[in-house]
Amino acid sequence: MYVSMREMLRKANEGSYAVMAINAFNIESTHGIIQAAEAMRSPIIIDLLQDHLKSIVDCNLITNPIIRMAQDSPVPVALNLDHGSDVRHLKRCVHEGFSSVMVDASALPFEDNVRVTRDVVSFAEPYGASVEAEVGNMGLVGEGSGFTDADMYTEPEAAISFIKETGVDALAVSYGSTHGNYPEGYVPTFHFDIVERIKEATGCPLVLHGGSGAGAENIKRSLEVGINKINVGTDYMNAQREFVRQALAADPELDYPSLATRAAEAGGEVLKRYIELAGSANKA
Ligand code: 13P
Repeated sequence: MYVSMREMLRKANEGSYAVMAINAFNIESTHGIIQAAEAMRSPIIIDLLQDHLKSIVDCNLITNPIIRMAQDSPVPVALNLDHGSDVRHLKRCVHEGFSSVMVDASALPFEDNVRVTRDVVSFAEPYGASVEAEVGNMGLVGEGSGFTDADMYTEPEAAISFIKETGVDALAVSYGSTHGNYPEGYVPTFHFDIVERIKEATGCPLVLHGGSGAGAENIKRSLEVGINKINVGTDYMNAQREFVRQALAADPELDYPSLATRAAEAGGEVLKRYIELAGSANKA
């Protein structure tokens, strides 16, 4: 079933669980995600990063095969542009058939973030595409920007007026997570009061970015305060890389098609654990 995030997140909001949104960048990694969701009878979101679409595969090549996989699946599957900061590119993705987009104008001053997001919301409307946006910022461990600082957290009152002024379907909130690989053994401190306050005032589906390495306790509490979408990329990629490393160590001559296919399946095992934690198993 090919759907937008709107209905999926409305149900998750009602049922106090979250739908996992997983970064893919090709057919195999998309297939691994959908297979894991089907095994768990869970709705799922395929997140394609703007940067990957620009550097690895253009949206006019990858969109149709993913839509076809989603249509053929018994579980609800949404295709979402992740961190779309280039609005012209984002509009191309919607034209191509993305059912959902995240417009990321969070680096701009608040009023500009509102203006850009409103433009995207009215553009997406006739297509029936859902829109996620971000207020506050999150860092990226290991690649320059580093950990999310307290001054990057979402300011609840700003987020509340943003949701009211833009009419977004979902809002990404910065409350302690960072994208990428945390150091071994590190567990981030989450500031749940930020999420709680925004949820209380708006009832809007809220999004946790940088879900990899967040830890089971942080995820459980996030669901309680109102997170309805959890983004995970790094842990899925790491699991696939680890599979490739071990498989080649065991058999350096392993043929590439089975290596690539089985890597995505191995990544899917990690996703099943996240689906369980997010509470979306058997919700399809
Ligand atoms: P991680 O790669 O840290 O899981 O973050 C994914 C994400 O938030 C994509 O938007």
